[in-house]
Amino acid sequence: MQVLTRSRVKKLALKEIDLKLVFCPSLPSLSSINKALQGLLLAEQRYSTQISEIIRRDPSLTSRLLRLVNSVYYGLSTPVNSIQEAVFYLGVRQIRQLTMVTPIIEDFQRLTRQCIFPWREFWQHSIGTAILTREVINTVQSPTDESDYVAGLVHDVGKIVMAWSFPDHFAEIHNAAKRGERDLIEIEQEILGMDHAELGALYLELHRLPELMVNAARYHHHPEKSDDHTHIIAAVQIADLLLRAEQIGCSGNYMEVTRAQVMEISKRSVLFPSAQDAEHAIERASFHRILEQLPDVLEGLV
Ligand SMILES: [Fe+2]
Ligand SMILES: [Fe+2]
Repeated sequence: MQVLTRSRVKKLALKEIDLKLVFCPSLPSLSSINKALQGLLLAEQRYSTQISEIIRRDPSLTSRLLRLVNSVYYGLSTPVNSIQEAVFYLGVRQIRQLTMVTPIIEDFQRLTRQCIFPWREFWQHSIGTAILTREVINTVQSPTDESDYVAGLVHDVGKIVMAWSFPDHFAEIHNAAKRGERDLIEIEQEILGMDHAELGALYLELHRLPELMVNAARYHHHPEKSDDHTHIIAAVQIADLLLRAEQIGCSGNYMEVTRAQVMEISKRSVLFPSAQDAEHAIERASFHRILEQLPDVLEGLV
């Protein structure tokens, strides 16, 4: 195994990471999405479905929206994990306030300059995973709400949290990951002391997001370790790997994933009753069509 040469940054202890997360400022959003949303919120006719449609393209805004709705309406018998429902509960005024205080990730990038990370492509990875999670789930069961989509959207939120709270560590991790020689998780654990999956889960937990989102962030690379929601999390894992295999968007993990590897993992997935079912689901013509169309769809979204 190749060992990284001298790290500039200090590996952190869990306590140090926890403390920093408590003071983690609002997660940044992509400028194109923030502009589109602000424009819509200022328009005379405001349609909550259109507002929801734009928020659905942004893992940061979605996390913050769900955090807000679940803290304002703390005590609802079931936590809100649908974007449309959250928009309905909060109303336009609160959402406008939310976008006004939302930092923009491109501004942050200009400030740091330590590492050029393809944020737009990362947003495409997040939205693509959300769309595909739904498609994968659809092959075995009909979703009853949009929690599967939201779980896919926020699965890698830990990478935004890392860039935002630990920019020096993030820069060093991504400069190493770009070589494509080692898995991102391994590099993150070595340089920061924690990977993006655990970091994202801790952040979402701290902000009291529904358990499904926390588990999707924590276990999306190992759905079998989760006690709950294993079907949705297994679908997130397959969606994430499919996007990486097809090189759609950029997850920040540059290790190559082949279609054959995705198939192998799908065959062992808890999502499918048998290996044959997994094969049928992934090889379905409609699935191929969606994968073919996805790059154009994502280009149009962010
Ligand atoms: Fe991940
Ligand atoms: Fe991912």
